[in-house]
Amino acid sequence: MSTYEKSPAPGDPADAQDPRPTGADTSGSLTDTGAPAPSDRQSLRAGADGPIVLHDAHFVNQMAHFDRERVPERVVHAKGSGAFGTFEVTADVSQWTKAAVFQPGTKTDMLARFSTVAGEMGSPDTWRDPRGFALKFYTTQGNYDLVGNNTPIFFIRDAMKFPHFIRSQKRRGANGLRDNHMQWDFWTLNPESAHQVTYLMGDRGIPRTYRHMNGYGSHTYMWVNASGERFWVKYHFHSQQGVEGLSGDEATRIAGEDADFHRRDLFESIEKGDHPRWTLSVQVIPFEEGFSYKTNIFDVTKTVSHADYPLHEVGVMTLDRNPDNHFAQIEQAAFEPSATVPGIGLSPDTMLLGRVFSYADTHRHRIGPNYLQLPVNKHRVEGHSYTYDGPMAYDHAGDAAVYAANTQGTSYSDGTGPAEDSYPVSGDLVRRAQTVRSDEDDNFSQPGTLVREVFDDAQRDRFVDTVAGHLLGGVTGEVLERAFDYWKAVDAETGARIEQAVRAGQAEDNPGGQPEDAKDDAARGTTDADGTRRG
Ligand code: HEM
Repeated sequence: MSTYEKSPAPGDPADAQDPRPTGADTSGSLTDTGAPAPSDRQSLRAGADGPIVLHDAHFVNQMAHFDRERVPERVVHAKGSGAFGTFEVTADVSQWTKAAVFQPGTKTDMLARFSTVAGEMGSPDTWRDPRGFALKFYTTQGNYDLVGNNTPIFFIRDAMKFPHFIRSQKRRGANGLRDNHMQWDFWTLNPESAHQVTYLMGDRGIPRTYRHMNGYGSHTYMWVNASGERFWVKYHFHSQQGVEGLSGDEATRIAGEDADFHRRDLFESIEKGDHPRWTLSVQVIPFEEGFSYKTNIFDVTKTVSHADYPLHEVGVMTLDRNPDNHFAQIEQAAFEPSATVPGIGLSPDTMLLGRVFSYADTHRHRIGPNYLQLPVNKHRVEGHSYTYDGPMAYDHAGDAAVYAANTQGTSYSDGTGPAEDSYPVSGDLVRRAQTVRSDEDDNFSQPGTLVREVFDDAQRDRFVDTVAGHLLGGVTGEVLERAFDYWKAVDAETGARIEQAVRAGQAEDNPGGQPEDAKDDAARGTTDADGTRRG
């Protein structure tokens, strides 16, 4: 017998033909205020074919709540996936930090979220982009958030540039399209991007899966030991699955076939018991040496040589538990570089200091001012803070004193004097980038070394193809010329090869000899009808 056999008789309600599935539980649900819900399928109408009525409170509530079902997506790193796990310390680094999370043998619950940067919440996982590597450790001294990427460096060195950088990677005003021309305009006008762009266009630019990439703290952070001694550290999480990338062609194909390729891989691997692991090691730079090292260690566009400061193992991160609910536990997860714990401090990296403001601020907007009360974000330490009330407050202080100092028995902190995670500062307020410390501390030496000494011939060939292909995707005129100079500054030979490949590609695309600018502008929709260039 067909599920849909019954035809309604004249005068029956139209949904009399809806199937009543066997095995469905029709014993009822509740309204949001706890009364039996009258119906989750039929709204209340005035008469047989009459209008629905406003006092169908269950219907109105369902609609109104649905209308508010999303929180705004993250302004960056909107597409991401996460899982829970543990971090287990396997070595003894107590000589450098007193942080409880890094003491020998300690096991700490944690959450990781991996993401792409520029795309939106539904964008393909395999677009070429750095990947976020955000970690939250629920430590006995409060939450420690290490919000890094899968690259040890970044595009810019001043937080003031971040909104501009991000807009150049997102979409154009008129056509709503991403635009290579605008990306290269920004990158070439901010040549400190060269190191990160070299990394991005190389074989590590698109990870095979989230499991097959490393994670880095990227900035230099401070560690403080039990005697109050300070050290500078750089975090490296090495994938025990190995580091593997996708070629541009593979990534493009997968983007069309399965936009959620990396999300699916992470979830399914954990589901079947194949738990990904990363080994954490740190480079430790003695406090004073940090101020005189040959490159500025507070400039996030630079790496620090492993020959000078080798890696020391700390422990292993294992992800072994999928979220029960993506929205509650991953979409509403809020990571913030400001969440530090005793024994771990910041550094004078201006990018890091800008981030320390930005994340908690965006969470208050995106999720709400009480985002830290949500189970996924809540710390696991007994005690109270002096923040109260606000929208959706759940935790409360009863009748306890809400002010400090008080003599009503509510404890408060009262520290004075030098901060333990301090560093010397002097001089007038000044607008400027980090001090250049040597000839090697320029924008192009480190990316040059990457191209010449780290990439092999085959990697260099693929790199030239990738950059040339990207430039051929709509980069023209002055910006294109600047891009050639940018790559020649990184490496003369590689730059010349990129220029040659682009010019050959342009000739192929343009056999009739139509002026390049006119053609590309028209394709990108950046030229008005009268030919005025808008972009
Ligand atoms: C001054 C520079 C930067 C600013 C102002 C900034 C700001 C932001 C903001 C507002 C978000 C959205 C957070 C949310 O809604 O949950 C975000 C996400 C993120 N940022 Fe940054 N960012 C900066 C640089 C960096 C750098 C250098 C890294 C890596 C080393 C990084 C890694 C991440 C990651 C991993 C996320 C996603 C966190 C998650 O999974 O929820 N950002 N950033």
